[in-house]
Amino acid sequence: MSKRLEGKVAAITGGNQGIGLGIAERFIQEGAAVSICYRSDGEGSERVAESLRAGGGKAIAIQADISKLADGQRFLSETVSQLGELDILVNNAGVEKRASFWDVTEADYDFVLNVNLKGLFFVTQAMVRYLRQAKRPGKIINISSVHEELPFPHFTSYCASKGALKMITRNLSIELAPFNITINNIAPGAIETPINKNLLNDPVKLKSLLDNIPLRRLGKPEDVASIAAFLASEESSYVTGTTFVVDGGLTWNYEEQ
Ligand code: BGC
Repeated sequence: MSKRLEGKVAAITGGNQGIGLGIAERFIQEGAAVSICYRSDGEGSERVAESLRAGGGKAIAIQADISKLADGQRFLSETVSQLGELDILVNNAGVEKRASFWDVTEADYDFVLNVNLKGLFFVTQAMVRYLRQAKRPGKIINISSVHEELPFPHFTSYCASKGALKMITRNLSIELAPFNITINNIAPGAIETPINKNLLNDPVKLKSLLDNIPLRRLGKPEDVASIAAFLASEESSYVTGTTFVVDGGLTWNYEEQ
């Protein structure tokens, strides 16, 4: 397989675990240099960066809590100073909190919206300002969710953030096109990652979820990473403002017995 991201530099928020890590591994295989940011767990993330470098690729880990504007901006500027000019931003960092609507606390609401929406918004703004100033084309890839469309009861703040992300992408595809910057969403369904650990440890909940997935398995980070590699590469040069659903058929599964 020819390497599709040779010479490119990619910044991946939350790239130390789950889908973000799957994407980092895939981008390295495709020849990119990769910077991942993590909120906590510095030791673990340094180990992750080391393992990403094991095959000879370039990878760095940077501590940054993207819900803070200055951290998000620093993540990108440190990436440029350590790895060189940036080409690709993957907005992967995301969190969710389960609660019935009437029980949602202000702290949990802020936590979810500040990472998934505000953080993403301003990291993207920092990327766009950088690309415009550097006069470079760019690729922005957002890890959204099937829940940018599909209800997810008891996760209303999460759904609100993902629904908003759908519209951010549509808007920005138009505003950024003159600068040759494309932006697309990937909408994963149920993927085996730490965000799902409660579900993965509960056989009853897991079975009922699997019964809803036509392909009868959970997705893996690699299933998402292959679409991300396509979206980061020149092969997707005419694709912007759209969402790629990677869900084993979950979203539109409906059958009458
Ligand atoms: C959520 C998971 C959920 C999956 C399928 C994802 O966006 O993060 O918690 O299992 O959607 O519903």
